[in-house]
Amino acid sequence: MGQHIVCRVDEIPEREAKLVHVEGRDIAIFNLGDRFAAIANRCPHEGADLCRGKVAAFVSADGPGQYMMEEERVMVRCPWHGWEFDLKNGQSYCDPRRMRVKSFEVNVTDGSALAEGPYKVEVFDVSTEDKYVILTI
Ligand code: FES
Repeated sequence: MGQHIVCRVDEIPEREAKLVHVEGRDIAIFNLGDRFAAIANRCPHEGADLCRGKVAAFVSADGPGQYMMEEERVMVRCPWHGWEFDLKNGQSYCDPRRMRVKSFEVNVTDGSALAEGPYKVEVFDVSTEDKYVILTI
């Protein structure tokens, strides 16, 4: 299992998602404001892109008219038919026993820590001559 730098934090607006392709998988990364979540992008119902779904907090009620928004339990609603998935573990709210999407661990790391490693990218020399950009590998 490897770690992959997928984007800067400010590339994903709050309550929205970014689709990334990592090791042959399409993964939706969600910005939940105080944390990020990642799930497989494909809805198990008919294959919609979950990165295009609406993010909403779970709503519970102690009685009629007494509802509460549970900001710790956040779900995404599939854009095609509205199935809902918990962004913490991928569990479906439509059919919790049989349906889920794979969830992934996601963390935020300071750029200064990335510069130190263990993450490394391959670096190539680039030079310009006249009007051409030359990449040397
Ligand atoms: S494709 Fe997602 S609910 Fe139907």
